[in-house]
Amino acid sequence: MCGIVGYVGSRQATPILMNGLSVLEYRGYDSAGICVQNGRLTTIRAEGKLVELEKKVKRFESHGTCGIAHTRWATHGVPEERNAHPHRDCTGSIALVHNGIIENYQELKADLMSTGHLFSSDTDSEVLAHMIEERMKNEMPLLQAVEDTLAHVRGTYGLVVVSKDVPQTLIAARMGSPLVIGVGEDEHYIASDPSALIAYTKDVIYLDDGEIAVVTSEGVHLNGSPSALTGSRQSKIDWDVEETTKGGHPHFMLKEIMEQPKVIEDSLRGRMDLIHGRCILGGLEGIQDRLAQIDRIVIVGCGSAYYAGLVGEYLIEEIAGIPVEVELASEFRYRKPLISERTAVLAISQSGETADTLEAIREAKRKHALTLGLVNTVGSSIARETDAGVYNHAGPEVGVASTKAFVSQLTTLTLIAIYLGQLRGVHERTHALLAGLAELPKQVQEILDHREQILEAVTSLGSTEHCLFLGRKFHAPIAYEGALKLKEVSYVHAEGYTSGEMKHGPIALIDKSFPSIVLCPKDSMFEKTWSNIEELKARGGMIIAITTDRESVGSLVDACIEIPQTLEELQPILSVIPTQLLAYEMAVARSLDPDKPRNLAKSVTVE
Ligand code: M6R
Repeated sequence: MCGIVGYVGSRQATPILMNGLSVLEYRGYDSAGICVQNGRLTTIRAEGKLVELEKKVKRFESHGTCGIAHTRWATHGVPEERNAHPHRDCTGSIALVHNGIIENYQELKADLMSTGHLFSSDTDSEVLAHMIEERMKNEMPLLQAVEDTLAHVRGTYGLVVVSKDVPQTLIAARMGSPLVIGVGEDEHYIASDPSALIAYTKDVIYLDDGEIAVVTSEGVHLNGSPSALTGSRQSKIDWDVEETTKGGHPHFMLKEIMEQPKVIEDSLRGRMDLIHGRCILGGLEGIQDRLAQIDRIVIVGCGSAYYAGLVGEYLIEEIAGIPVEVELASEFRYRKPLISERTAVLAISQSGETADTLEAIREAKRKHALTLGLVNTVGSSIARETDAGVYNHAGPEVGVASTKAFVSQLTTLTLIAIYLGQLRGVHERTHALLAGLAELPKQVQEILDHREQILEAVTSLGSTEHCLFLGRKFHAPIAYEGALKLKEVSYVHAEGYTSGEMKHGPIALIDKSFPSIVLCPKDSMFEKTWSNIEELKARGGMIIAITTDRESVGSLVDACIEIPQTLEELQPILSVIPTQLLAYEMAVARSLDPDKPRNLAKSVTVE
C-alpha cells in the first residue's frame, strides 16, 4: 500500500528516486511525487500513474543528491495532485512521505489550524509536516521535532522527512508500516520495500517498530545514538533484480503465472528427503518439542492467503490428524478467540506486512499461543514477530493478484502438514505425497503449455458480467480463490461456492445467461460434482469444466480445460492454475491492466 523511496549520497537523487518509484508503482498508482534537497526543497507531484510524474520531472529541474519520493494509494482524500506526497509545511521548509494512517489527524489538524497553519491537502499525512514545523519554529532540532511529533500521534507510519535547513540528511521512522534502509558505498537508500533498492544494493537494515533513524551518506544512527548502526543489524537480500522485471512478458501477472513450475521447485528445494520419506523444515526445527504438544491449529490470513489456509485445513487434518480452524485475520483480531498455550496460530501472508494478519498474530501472542508464519517476504514484520516459521520462497510477487504466492503457499502447507504428521509418528501418506510434490513442476508446465484451452473458455464466457465458481472438498477454496481472481482483475462479478451448497440457494441464479466454472477432477468428490453439473445443465446453465478427465465430462459441458491428475491432496495446486489464466485472459480481453486493478494495492498495511 503506497511506496516510499529515499536517497542520500553523492549521485543525482532524481533518477534513483524515479527508478525506485517505477519498481514500487504496483503498491499504489493514483498519484506520485518527489522532493529533492538542494539549498531549498524542490517538490514535483502529479495525479495519475507514474508516467504523468515522469513527464513533469522532464520539464522541471530537480538537481540534488538527497531526496524522497512516494507513489500513492488513496486512503484520506481523493486521488488528486494536492493530495499526493511529498507533503509540506506552511513555508516549504519540511517535506515528508508517509505510509500508514494517522488516526487522530482531525483533532491535530484543528489545533494546528487554530494557530494559523494553512493546509493544502485533505490527507492525514500533512499534519505531520505542520507539527514538525511548529516544533522547529520553537528551535527544536529536526530529529527531536520528528520524535516529539510522533509521540503525539496515534496510528501507523513508515515516514521519511527532509528539511531544507539540514543538508544531506533524511529522518526515517517506522510504526506498523515497513521501512528498509539500503547500505551503499558512502550512500544510503530508504524504501518501503526492498525491491526498490535491489538494483543498487543487497545490504539492508530493516527498521523495527518504534525506531527513528537519521540517515546520511556516511551512516545510519538510531534513536539518537551517537554511534552508527553496524553490521549486526545488516542482512542480505537473497534474490536478484531480474525477479522484479517482467522478463519479456506483457504483464507481471502473466510472468508470475508462467514461472510457477520454478516457484514450486524453490518452495520444495532442500525440504524433501525422498529416500527416507521425510520432510525437513529448518524453520520449525527449534520448536519441535512445543509443536509436538499442540492440540489445535488456528490459521489466519486475508484474501488469497485465507483461501490457502482453507486448503491447509484439509491438508493438516487429513495428513497430520490435528484439528484446524481457519479464520479471516480481520475478524480474529477483534473477537475474543479461545486459544491457549497449546494452540498454534499460523499466519499466512505473502507480504508479511498485512496489518490485519500482523495484529492477529499479536493478539495470539498476548494469549500465549505458539505463533507461526508462512510468509514469502524475508525479514517482513510477520516473519520477525512470529515464534518460528517457514518461508514459501516464491520470490518477489509484483502483480497485485496473488498467483505464484498462492501456489507456493499450498505447496509449503503440504510440507507443513507432512512435517506435523512426522512429529506425531504419522507416516502413511508421506512417501506418496513427497513423490507427488516432486512431479508438480512438470505437471504445472503441462498446463501452461496448453494455454489455448483457456482462450476457448474466455471466448465461451464472452461478455458475461457474472459467473459462479464451484468446487467441493479440497476444491471449495479453489472455487473461492478462482472467483476472487476473476473479480479483482477483470471486474466480472464472480462468486465461489462449494458445489454442495448449490441447491441451498445459488442455483436460483442459473439460466442460459449465467455461466458456472466447475472444478471437477477425478477425486473422491467426482460423482457428487458430476450430479451438480447435471443439475446446472438441466436449468440451461453454461458450464466450463476444469477436469482431469475430458472424456467423462466433455460431452456435457460447453468448454473443458483439462489438467493432469495427481493425488487428491495435491490436485488444488494444479487446478488453480487455469483459474489464474482465465482471470488474466479475461482482463486482457477487456483491455484492462491486470497488474494494476482499480482500487487495489499489493500490500494492505492499513485496516
Ligand atoms: O500479503 P498477504 O498475503 O497478506 O495479502 C493478503 C491479501 O491482501 C491478498 O491475498 C489479496 O487478496 C490479493 N490481492 C489476492 O489476489
